[in-house]
Amino acid sequence: MVRSVQIEPLTEADVSSAVRFAVRVLRVEPGDLGEQFASDITGDLRQMFVARAGGQVVAYGRVIELAADEAGPGTPAGCYLSGVLVDPAWRRRGIATQLTQARLRWAFARTDKVFYVTGADNIASLHLHAALGFQEMKRFGSERSAAGVDVLSQLARTAYEPMLRT
Ligand SMILES: CC(C)(COP(=O)(O)OP(=O)(O)OC[C@H]1O[C@@H](n2cnc3c(N)ncnc32)[C@H](O)[C@@H]1OP(=O)(O)O)[C@@H](O)C(=O)NCCC(=O)NCCS
Repeated sequence: MVRSVQIEPLTEADVSSAVRFAVRVLRVEPGDLGEQFASDITGDLRQMFVARAGGQVVAYGRVIELAADEAGPGTPAGCYLSGVLVDPAWRRRGIATQLTQARLRWAFARTDKVFYVTGADNIASLHLHAALGFQEMKRFGSERSAAGVDVLSQLARTAYEPMLRT
């Protein structure tokens, strides 16, 4: 992990930098991104963490409570990691791993199990989460990923906490 990067919960002061980052990296219109991100600050059941370098957001990741079927057909209700995104110039330096560890600490203070869904073709995401102990539960057809198939994985606190001591 690079020392110049800080991982912290999103603050009001980060919102405009986080929107600029998302617009640049995802090549999307800003739309209501600012409102969406700001609602992560106040919501009880959701949180966004950012990685800052030189005062600018260079990565973010969210954690959010979802209802059954909200993450895809047959997915359970629960706490989901979502939307981790790292600036291409800052990848492979452990930033997504640090953001995920921060989100897991937040989630495991509230629940015993954490889920996430990614495209079956997103090898980087599958490796990143597997290295933290996530295990695949099932696959289902999806229009959200180019592969047409999404993977649901889970991690239990009882499996994660011993990993922190090794
Ligand atoms: C996936 C993503 C978040 C990884 O961010 P990152 O900061 O580069 O990840 P890390 O440096 O913490 O990598 C941790 C591990 O993930 C795996 N990984 C990361 N990028 C990878 C890649 N391009 N190919 C294969 N494995 C990869 C590796 O196992 C890596 O460990 P290593 O560097 O020791 O080999 C980043 O590539 C990204 O923003 N991608 C676009 C958005 C996306 O797909 N998000 C996931 C949606 S669920």
